[in-house]
Amino acid sequence: MDKIVLRKAHGNDVGIYFEWVNDSEVRKQSFNSEAVLWQAHQEWYKNKLLDENCFMFVMESDNQPVGQIRFDVVDGVANIDYSLDKKARGKHLGERLISDGIDMVLANRCVVFQASIKKQNLASIKTIKKLGFDEVESNNPEKSIFQKKVL
Ligand SMILES: CC(C)(COP(=O)(O)OP(=O)(O)OC[C@H]1O[C@@H](n2cnc3c(N)ncnc32)[C@H](O)[C@@H]1OP(=O)(O)O)[C@@H](O)C(=O)NCCC(=O)NCCS
Repeated sequence: MDKIVLRKAHGNDVGIYFEWVNDSEVRKQSFNSEAVLWQAHQEWYKNKLLDENCFMFVMESDNQPVGQIRFDVVDGVANIDYSLDKKARGKHLGERLISDGIDMVLANRCVVFQASIKKQNLASIKTIKKLGFDEVESNNPEKSIFQKKVL
């Protein structure tokens, strides 16, 4: 029996994700069926890897990538996107992909903690920074936003 594992997606997967996103069945089943261009994909992929609210995993069967699942967390809701390589379809691996993906999110408590702190509240800023929170961009001049992603 094939060894199936889920692992975190990384930069080197940009090419396989491009193949998957432009797979004819994936385009057909997407709400936007236009083909995805390489340059736009590269930019999108880089941003997703950096996105604190995005968790991406690749499914491997015997060390070969066979599918992807992505969780985009918006307002506490994890929106799921998934697809299998066409060679891997027809064997109920989709069920495994989604259920293992959810397990990964739960087991690793993939969650983003966010603290919004007044810029002059130095005690709070110092405290949260000690706990590994990173400052992210804020469009409010009075507010500093700190986030910590667990995974
Ligand atoms: C969705 C996807 C992950 C499912 O892959 P999979 O696990 O290989 O699915 P299977 O082919 O094993 O089919 C699962 C079930 O659906 C049934 N099924 C498959 N194609 C079907 C069809 N066209 N009509 C009706 N039932 C169908 C299968 O018979 C099977 O039923 P069973 O559980 O009663 O045996 C895969 O098809 C895929 O990657 N598709 C392209 C991307 C996509 O659609 N992503 C999801 C967007 S929401």
